[in-house]
Amino acid sequence: MKVLITGAAGFIGSALALRLLERGDTVIGIDNLNDYYDPSLKEARLARTLKYPAFTDIRIDLEDREGIAALFASQRPDRVVNLAAQAGVRYSLENPNAYVDTNLMGFMHILEGCRHNGVEHLVYASSSSVYGSNTKMPFSVHDNVDHPVSIYAATKKANELMAHTYSHLYRLPTTGLRFFTVYGPWGRPDMALFKFTHQILAGLPIDVFNYGKHRRDFTYIDDIVEGVVRTLDHIPQPNPEWSGDRPDSATSTAPYALYNIGNNEPVELMRYIEVLEDCLGKKAEKNLLPLQPGDVPDTYADVQDLVRDVGYKPDMPVEQGIANFVSWYREYFGA
Ligand SMILES: NC(=O)c1ccc[n+]([C@@H]2O[C@H](COP(=O)([O-])OP(=O)(O)OC[C@H]3O[C@@H](n4cnc5c(N)ncnc54)[C@H](O)[C@@H]3O)[C@@H](O)[C@H]2O)c1
Repeated sequence: MKVLITGAAGFIGSALALRLLERGDTVIGIDNLNDYYDPSLKEARLARTLKYPAFTDIRIDLEDREGIAALFASQRPDRVVNLAAQAGVRYSLENPNAYVDTNLMGFMHILEGCRHNGVEHLVYASSSSVYGSNTKMPFSVHDNVDHPVSIYAATKKANELMAHTYSHLYRLPTTGLRFFTVYGPWGRPDMALFKFTHQILAGLPIDVFNYGKHRRDFTYIDDIVEGVVRTLDHIPQPNPEWSGDRPDSATSTAPYALYNIGNNEPVELMRYIEVLEDCLGKKAEKNLLPLQPGDVPDTYADVQDLVRDVGYKPDMPVEQGIANFVSWYREYFGA
């Protein structure tokens, strides 16, 4: 298969690219290597995929409408995985326009590329943040998600709506994946685990929001990649039982699907920090702070649909996942 991955220098995109290359797929990786966080980490991730002759590295911005159209026409990918996005909940309070530009405009260009070039299947990253103000646990893809609490979440929900339109109008099979707090080796420096590790090793205090009481369904990178690969291989079909009288939000009369990919086992932030302290052999000095605006208190993924359709469920315990992250971090930074 020839797979186009957007955000191929990113945390999830680079891990997915490696996995597809290892199994023999051809991968076209696109990224603009922006400086939302240190681009040298993106370069280092890319260096791993560049070793494969079946990998093509393309520097382009999703916002470049003509460029993306020309790329689809010349590369003619069989399947597409859209992972490029302006990520991060907190930064969306500071710079909301970046989210509109990449996550809405950029995604539109990807949809158009898929539509005009006979793409068999578009898989795209959504997020657990779409659950916003919902409190019914675990979060199910069949629940209403009309109450996002950040612009980041609103753009992810908008992607699901845009994808549905293209599945309906042009019969483009689309699968939206709501990822739950992803962590692991080669992770993102703007996320808690990376920041905490850096601060603790430097002997600096860490900011612990919501007094460490919120629970997150922390999901290990390899489990996310497995979920993406399995859903990429599973082209969604229209649901013959779907009814507009009682509209189910996770399926449609169009070839459209939505899945949660989460560990299905939430862990309290304070416990997550404790495990990190054990792995580092060092205690953290903690600044206990209230919940940040835009953040949701708890996340917990219902993964029944994922299990039913692709026979898979993430299962990495945080004790092992954090240990893997710490050994990668020590080696990468020589710390
Ligand atoms: N990591 C998580 O916990 C998590 C959770 C839920 C959803 N997601 C989603 O998964 C996807 C991948 O996340 P990630 O953690 O790998 O993030 P990441 O920031 O590491 O990767 C995104 C990549 O996209 C690239 N990019 C951004 N804007 C671009 C543009 N306009 N044109 C071209 N390239 C661009 C970036 O340079 C980066 O390399 C994102 O859509 C994110 O919103 C991630």
